[in-house]
This record gives sequence, structure tokens and C-alpha cells, in this order.
Amino acid sequence: MGLIIISNREPYAPKRGEDGELRWVPSIGGLTAALDPALQHAGGTWIAWGEELPEISEVDLPQDAPRYRLKRLRLSEAEVRDFYYGFSNRALWPMSHYFIGRTKYQTATWRAYVNVNRRFAKAAVESYREGDLIWVHDYQLALVPRMIREALPHARIGFFWHIPWPSAEVFRTLPWDRELLDGLLGADLIGMHTQDYVRYFQIACERVLGAETEGDTVRWQDHISRMVARPIGIEVETFEELATSPEVEEEADRIRRTLQTQILLGVDRLDYTKGIPERLEAFDAFLDRHPEARGRVTLLQIAVPSRERVESYRQLRAQVEGLVGRINGKHTRDGWSPVQYIYRGVSREELVAHYRAADVMLVTPLRDGLNLVAKEFAASSRDGVLILSRFAGAADEMPEALQVNPYNVDGLAGTLLEALQMPLDEKKARLQRLRERLKQSDLHAWAEGFIQELAAT
Ligand code: ADP
Ligand code: G6P
Repeated sequence: MGLIIISNREPYAPKRGEDGELRWVPSIGGLTAALDPALQHAGGTWIAWGEELPEISEVDLPQDAPRYRLKRLRLSEAEVRDFYYGFSNRALWPMSHYFIGRTKYQTATWRAYVNVNRRFAKAAVESYREGDLIWVHDYQLALVPRMIREALPHARIGFFWHIPWPSAEVFRTLPWDRELLDGLLGADLIGMHTQDYVRYFQIACERVLGAETEGDTVRWQDHISRMVARPIGIEVETFEELATSPEVEEEADRIRRTLQTQILLGVDRLDYTKGIPERLEAFDAFLDRHPEARGRVTLLQIAVPSRERVESYRQLRAQVEGLVGRINGKHTRDGWSPVQYIYRGVSREELVAHYRAADVMLVTPLRDGLNLVAKEFAASSRDGVLILSRFAGAADEMPEALQVNPYNVDGLAGTLLEALQMPLDEKKARLQRLRERLKQSDLHAWAEGFIQELAAT
């Protein structure tokens, strides 16, 4: 029995170094960060869009110790524009995160979405061998389960939706609401991060399709799909080990020595769902209210460029850069600047060194399917405090974090003070409880649990 994983984003992207050598660099984002270790563990095939160097159609990964085969689909320029930037990231992404004002629902991009989903499904059917398990991922590929089911009526097909499932009223703004649900309900098992998302999905199935729901199932056209609420985990031990390695400890010390202040940290893809402007505004309000903190606290924001061909993302970048400039212009003195802004992806080691160096981690999305950064920080930190938005899926599992409403800028500024002043004993106790829970449902348990349930269908 083999495992076939299908996602839009590939786990590693090929980059040619200056020496001409080809390197496969890990992609940045929650989905691939989670699934690569899972498939390394299980072995099998991964089907994804080959964005860079599309002439490479297959490769064994990871490069230095291959564990699975990556099959790369070559998308045309028009497909990338309409399927990826268009429908996936101008319609489904904002709609699912409750940003209806940012959606663009266009028939042309919907058609491209259908066609590209068909291409992914076809690639899966071609790779399929009797008995394989097929596991499709995320909003870019919602129609794939139904399309595979039509070709392989008896295949076992799972689907995981990695982003929020919105309330039915919001979902119904999508002109192709029926088609999307019908596509997903081709799967035998559908996973989401929280029980709320599952409930909203079932309500949408009832209202939009008139499907029957009972317990954790949805019956639609003589086929039963089972729902499971299972938040994704991380490789806790890998983070703990990396965080306590001499190289990372040294790098963390270097970061602290360079800044010489307490450190507030933000780490995100530069996405309007992540609440970065609100976080900056809250820090500004905090400095206004507490002049004594000037020179003593720095906000270090690491943002990785994302989806820059979409207008909303370009606007966000300009907004964030403007805010950083304004806040630094207002508060900078005697060699201290309040905000350090890094606009690039960083390596895993550098990332963990920053988690390790931080006094307070700010994870304040306006809406987020889960948010892995929160979990990665909790696994890596020595004695830091996690501030976490109540609108991140991870909030359900992380009650020891200081939970905030990111829309409440003054409230967030108040929580910053609370975090910076928290006694050491309390910080350690909170982190320990967070870590225990992370260990109980780590990444392997998440993936294996899903795969086992799928195998049993
Ligand atoms: P999303 O999936 O929306 O990007 P998550 O928080 O779930 O959000 O996952 C983001 C992943 O990308 C995490 O594994 C995180 O470590 C990584 N990441 C985010 N920003 C950066 C960055 N600037 N540099 C390197 N890795 C990053
Ligand atoms: C989120 C989505 C993933 C996506 C990732 C990065 O985690 O759930 O499906 O891959 O963001 O976004 P990108 O558009 O670069 O793939």
C-alpha cells in the first residue's frame, strides 16, 4: 500500500546556486512544513506544481537522503495567473478568511481552477496502484477528490482543508458554492483543524446542497464522507533538539547581544490575514503609553514575501513598510530603533535561534486555519511568552498562551506589558504545559492517525 500526496505547493523548490549546482530548498508555509516529514516517514509519491525549473518532471527527495518521489506538474503562465493567483488566492483564500471585500469572483478564473484541478486528478490517477491511499490537500484542489472518484470509484481518498472553513453565510457568497462542496464530498475522509470548521462545513452541506448530515458524516448522492477535526502538530522533539544545539544557542546569544533589549518577535508570510499592521500599531501604542520602555524593547518582525502578484499583498507590503518607517521615525533615539524588519525567508536554524532569543512571541492573525509558528515557538523557547490571537485555529489547544483579540489594538498593547513583566516561574510553567500538550499530538500522530482512518474506510 503506497501513499500519494497531492498539493499545489511542492515541498522543496529547485534553485541553481552560483556554482551551477542544483539545490532543493524547503518551501515556506504551513502545509509543506507539516507534510514533508510525514511523507518522509511513510514513503510514497507527492504530486505538486513545479514552479521553478518546470522542465524537471520528477525527482527523489529530500536530496541528500531520498524518501519519496516528487512528480511535478508544469502549469502554463495563464494557468498560474488564473488558477493560482486568480481563483485560489483572490477568491477562495480571502473568502475562507472572512475577507469578503477582497474577493474577486470571476468565471474565467473559476474555469481555470476546474481545468487545473482536472490535471492534478489525472496525474493522481496515472500514479495510482491498486490499494494506494490518496491524500489531497487544501483549498487549491477542492475538486480533485470528486474527479479522482469518477475515474477510480473504489479508491480510498482523503482530503485535508488547511485553512479556516468560514460560517455558511460567508461561504454562500461564492458563486460556485455547490460545485466546491460536491468536489470535496468525493472524499471518504475530510479533515479540518477545529470542530468549529467541521460544524460550519456540515451546515454548508445541508443548506447549499441539501445533503444529509449525521454525527460526523455527510451523505451526498449515495456516498458517505466522514469528517474529522484534527489540528496539525509539529515535530516537537526536532524543534527542542535544534533549539538546544550549541550552534542555535550561540546564534540566539548573538541576536540578543546585537539588540541589547528585550525582544518581541513576529514571524509570518507577508499576508493580510496575519494581522501585522495591527501588531505594529499595538507596539506603537505601547511605546506611547510607556516611554520608559524606549530603548529597552525591540520588535523584530521577520516576514517572508508571498503571492506578490496579487494586489492585496502588494498593498500590504507598502502598508507594513510605511508603518515600520513611521514608528521608527517617531521613537528612534540614541542608537536604538524600535522595529527591526526583515523581509525574507530565513533558514530553519536562524528561525529557531530567533524563537530562542525572543522574550515574547506575537502570533496575532486576524484569522488563521491553525498557525504553526505558535507551536514552533512553544517547542523552541527557553522562557518566552506566547501571545496568541483567539482567531487562530491553534488557540483551542493553547490555553496557556496569552490570548488576544487582534482587532483590539489598545488591548494588545496592554497584553504586551503583561507579557514583558510576567514572572519567570509563571513563564516556565505555561511553556511546560504547552509543550506537554504539543507532545501528546505531534505531527506524526496527526499524519498517522489520518492515514490509518483513511485506510480503514
Ligand atoms: P501559513 O501556513 O499561513 O504560512 P503557518 O504559521 O501555519 O502559516 O506556517 C508557516 C510556516 O512557514 C512555519 O513552518 C514557519 O516556520 C514558516 N515561516 C514563516 N515565515 C517564515 C520566514 N520569514 N522564514 C522562514 N520560515 C518562515
Ligand atoms: C498556507 C496554505 C498552503 C500554502 C501556504 C503558502 O499554509 O494553507 O496551502 O501552500 O499557505 O502559500 P503559497 O501560496 O506560497 O503556497
